[in-house]
Amino acid sequence: MANPITRSVSTALSARLSGLLGFSPAVPLRRWEPGHALVDGPVLVLGSGAGTGHGAGSGRDADADALAALLSGAPAVPDAAGDEVLDGWDLDVERHPVPGTRYAAVVVVLTGVTHPDDLHAPLLAAASTLKTLARGARVVTVSRAATADDAPAVAAARQGIDAVVRTIAKESRGGTTANGIALGADVPVTAPSAVGALRFLLSTRSAYVHGQLLPVDSTAGILPADWDRALDGRVAVVTGAARGIGEAIARTLARDGATVVAVDVPAAGEQLAAVANAVHGTALQLDITAPDAGARILEHTLARHGRLDVMVHNAGITRDKLFANLTDEQWDAVVAVNIAAQLRINETLLTSGDFVDAPRLVSISSTTGIAGNRGQANYAATKGGVVGMVRATAPLLEPFGGTANAVAPGFIETDMTARMPAVTRQVARQLASLQQGGLPIDVAEAVAFLSSPQAGGIVGRTVRVCGQNVVGA
Ligand code: NAI
Repeated sequence: MANPITRSVSTALSARLSGLLGFSPAVPLRRWEPGHALVDGPVLVLGSGAGTGHGAGSGRDADADALAALLSGAPAVPDAAGDEVLDGWDLDVERHPVPGTRYAAVVVVLTGVTHPDDLHAPLLAAASTLKTLARGARVVTVSRAATADDAPAVAAARQGIDAVVRTIAKESRGGTTANGIALGADVPVTAPSAVGALRFLLSTRSAYVHGQLLPVDSTAGILPADWDRALDGRVAVVTGAARGIGEAIARTLARDGATVVAVDVPAAGEQLAAVANAVHGTALQLDITAPDAGARILEHTLARHGRLDVMVHNAGITRDKLFANLTDEQWDAVVAVNIAAQLRINETLLTSGDFVDAPRLVSISSTTGIAGNRGQANYAATKGGVVGMVRATAPLLEPFGGTANAVAPGFIETDMTARMPAVTRQVARQLASLQQGGLPIDVAEAVAFLSSPQAGGIVGRTVRVCGQNVVGA
């Protein structure tokens, strides 16, 4: 991370540039810390009432009732299998909008919609609350993913939700985020990953996640005994952990209970040791492009900690140049670190027989890997490569209760982005709907969620952590 002097000069410079360019100042986002309330204020849970016999607009349906019960904590809710009960979250839940209430969160349950007409009542009820939301509020929809098997009207209703969520995000103010959960067919709203995703999106852990639907593909996964220590007993390897996003990931996984192996190049040895000590983990000095990198990671981790459960591919580099000017070296270096090394390490882990206890693989992509970016053809090829890699790796881990997913950060304040010209950097911040860059902790929180036992039903997906900054996708 940039040192404090560089950081304060850079902050002063960006404030000045924002003024000159006529940008409004960004609302500071609240990040999670142990002891924070899950949601600070009343929560409104709206149902569509569609397809449940209650009639559209009644605001009641079975799924909304189940989530309202979970959020309020009374009565206890049977879990997906129906034979246990989920602990309620003890929030202050209301089922009908009361004008003027400063809701801290609005959950709109749209699983029952079968026609675009069904969207009217729940969405307009949600709209009526938006002007008086609390600062940093959360709007979360829960719906079913549209599929090719849907009847046209069903698909129209479901697909429309995606663009509505993106639009609410673009209109929201005051650090409010808008996201959704898109459940696969037959995945109940109380499935572990649905519940886990809802908790993540409601909490300040998702401060910079904005304007997207998080897919939940299956009922796999288990809820943690302690939500704040979801990674207790798990051993995680994080590459590029000496600084920036990797350091934040190492600290966050350790905070949530994991034992961490921090990996970085020998040249970063001192910083790496400091991070490893801070998280009470171990350091492994290693260039991940070494042909035996996977074997060395396994050897170190098994010898020191006895198991390997979570592999986080974070190490990455840029060598930016317009495509027409790219050199062979610039192309090859980026491919070697950002994707080829990961593929080789994964091959070793997957064939080892030691990565089989509900393993979690999380790789850091980039919004450049989704939308492309001027001057980053080499980087785009590798970060788009990560999106494809996790999609194709997930089925190989599924037999072990494992998952592979990616996190695609937008503009995050690190050494990597501190090297950008000041004006470009400020414009990049303003391109996000949240009108600011993210922090390494924002990426780390998404990685921690995808590494957790409750995220077992999210497979092969890429979650953006970008304050909704994708332009041109
Ligand atoms: P950074 O440059 O601050 O840190 C990267 C770390 O990876 C460094 O400690 C470096 O020594 C290590 N590393 C590089 N090559 C390595 C190798 N061959 N073997 C082992 N370690 C190696 O970068 P930052 O910003 O923290 O980025 C982390 C990840 O997030 C990267 O994959 C990057 O592409 C991605 N990302 C960053 C964004 C940002 O805005 N900062 C946006 C989107 C993605």
